[in-house]
Amino acid sequence: MKPTFANDAAIEQAVDLLRQGRLVAFPTETVYGLGADASNPEAVRRIFLAKGRPADHPLIVHIPSLASLDAWALTIPESAQQLAAQFWPGPLALILKKRADVPLEVTGGQDTVGLRIPNHPVALRLLQVFGGGVAAPSANRFCRISPTQAVHVQEELGDDVDMILDGGACQVGVESTIIDLSGSQPKLLRPGHITRDQVEAILQTKLLVTPEIEQADFMHVRAPGMMAIHYAPITPALLCSPASLLTIIVDLFKQGKKIGLLTCNTELGNESHLGAIIRMPMQANAYAQVLYSSLRELDNLHLDIILVEQPPQTETWRAINDRLAKATSIYSNVIV
Ligand code: TXA
Ligand code: MG
Repeated sequence: MKPTFANDAAIEQAVDLLRQGRLVAFPTETVYGLGADASNPEAVRRIFLAKGRPADHPLIVHIPSLASLDAWALTIPESAQQLAAQFWPGPLALILKKRADVPLEVTGGQDTVGLRIPNHPVALRLLQVFGGGVAAPSANRFCRISPTQAVHVQEELGDDVDMILDGGACQVGVESTIIDLSGSQPKLLRPGHITRDQVEAILQTKLLVTPEIEQADFMHVRAPGMMAIHYAPITPALLCSPASLLTIIVDLFKQGKKIGLLTCNTELGNESHLGAIIRMPMQANAYAQVLYSSLRELDNLHLDIILVEQPPQTETWRAINDRLAKATSIYSNVIV
């Protein structure tokens, strides 16, 4: 399916498709989503088929405005109101107790629902004209890298989607921060552009984070974004500390490996050892914006291995480190 430039006529067509229970990929400020009418179980099932995603993994419902929150959430705690007032529209998803009429297909059988108002003009327009909730996971195949451009969706899903709205490259580049407000203590389920500190400052309380979450809940994994292997390129990828990087490059080079490198280091020599090198921005938000497209670019070069230099391990880099750990988790444990 070729992307369609997202003008008013295209958005009208997308809304018609959603009303018919079809799938529409659309841009958000984080990544592209694979959308279906969240009130139509049959349409929602199509998302799982297209992605190859297990049916018990819940989806985020995208809503047009705060006024539609109580069509989905059973109760809206004060904490949700405060976060929504501060960060919506924006890259934050809230997990709340669901209303009885929210299809279990959307929530993976759970009694909670993920909700967010995305901050992208195309997504907002689509939601406003549609007038309901759009369930949308990232528009990639299960466990693969999320798409941040319309053409990535085309590469990922081919004709398994009925329309791809092209709204340019996503500004944020990594998936939304997920805060679970359905229990007695707020939890950070997935780090993102909106940081833990920002959320804690609004709520005036500490968030539970992994591994405390598992300890507190005996929680089985319910957010696929929390699984160890996720967001992964097909090429083996390895996360290396800056100190070990050169040794690893030389070692792999001696073994005759074709190496791709993702690094912030501007002084690194030895480029003759490398099949490809992508120099990443040294500022976290700028790094996040191009992270997935850079991994995708290296993945398309048919290299033997992708080396990723570990960025700083500070709070501002938490979402990036989380995604990098997952993109490289299959191999990092083995080699380093
Ligand atoms: O930035 C984003 O959130 C993007 C764009 C398209 O909005 N969407 C996205 O969707 O990343 P997806 O399905 O790839 O990730 C949604 C995450 C999953 O990890 C899912 O398990 C979690 O949200 N989630 C959704 N509903 C949940 C619930 N009721 N309880 C716990 N986790 C939930
Ligand atoms: Mg995803």
